[in-house]
Amino acid sequence: MTTQKHSTPTSSDSTPTSSVTGAIALVTGANRGLGRHIAARLVSRGAAKVYAAARNPESVDLPGVVPLRLDVTDDSQIAEAAAIASDVTLLVNNAGISRPGALLDTPLENVRAELDTNFWGVLAMVRAFAPVLAGTGGGTIVNVLSAQSWFAYPGTNGYHASKAAAWAITNGFRLELADQGTRVVAVHAGAFDTDFTADYDGPKEDPADIARATIDGLETDSVEILTDDWTRWVKSFLGQDPATFYAELGASGA
Ligand SMILES: NC(=O)c1ccc[n+]([C@@H]2O[C@H](COP(=O)([O-])OP(=O)(O)OC[C@H]3O[C@@H](n4cnc5c(N)ncnc54)[C@H](OP(=O)(O)O)[C@@H]3O)[C@@H](O)[C@H]2O)c1
Repeated sequence: MTTQKHSTPTSSDSTPTSSVTGAIALVTGANRGLGRHIAARLVSRGAAKVYAAARNPESVDLPGVVPLRLDVTDDSQIAEAAAIASDVTLLVNNAGISRPGALLDTPLENVRAELDTNFWGVLAMVRAFAPVLAGTGGGTIVNVLSAQSWFAYPGTNGYHASKAAAWAITNGFRLELADQGTRVVAVHAGAFDTDFTADYDGPKEDPADIARATIDGLETDSVEILTDDWTRWVKSFLGQDPATFYAELGASGA
């Protein structure tokens, strides 16, 4: 390992690329929430085809998309999706769940379910679609993560662990897929207003804004998209002693 400093791409030194216009995209969990917004925005921004993947494809109500049955915890459905959507150039791993509870006493199956969807689901999807993307010219993988990839919070620590692990493999896949020309992008977001946050009464972003920030980010060369000010605030503490962040988090009233 070297201690030499490397320059990191930022939004200010990014240049436009063509990940979106003309893309053939697949979005997981596209029947509702953020996934539906991302699929809609891909259509309006000129994607050539959008596979709207959902556990129940009949629940996909967006015009202009191709519904596709896909539970990301089901290996046979993933293999079938990769065979059907063999023309994909842009994979958006958006599907995710949260099962709130304390790590010390929540039923273990809740934590396992979070890992199954948010970590193992992403891992399985990338493994299945990496050859597809190699065959279509490299392409782009977008993993929808969270500001909670980076911090613990009482009641959501299983979710935190799942998103931290998904962040780790996002970085790992970026290195492993560089040789085939596949760009791997992490999207980190703070709370936004979907069914997912129905029981959270703090401030929430509009998911349409999160989708717009995601698609705008894809039009740059960034490999990490921070969709909102809260997420940028959390990220700004990463180089500091964790105690500093948790003191600030408490003081913020969160
Ligand atoms: N909302 C937030 O504040 C927030 C903040 C940061 C990050 N995120 C992340 O953003 C992503 C989308 O969240 P959201 O707020 O849009 O959630 P949401 O409204 O609850 O929607 C979740 C979507 O994921 C799908 N899904 C769940 N398990 C699945 C599985 N095993 N296979 C396929 N699809 C599955 C759901 O399908 P069904 O309709 O079949 O259940 C639904 O389409 C998630 O990865 C979440 O962790 C959310």
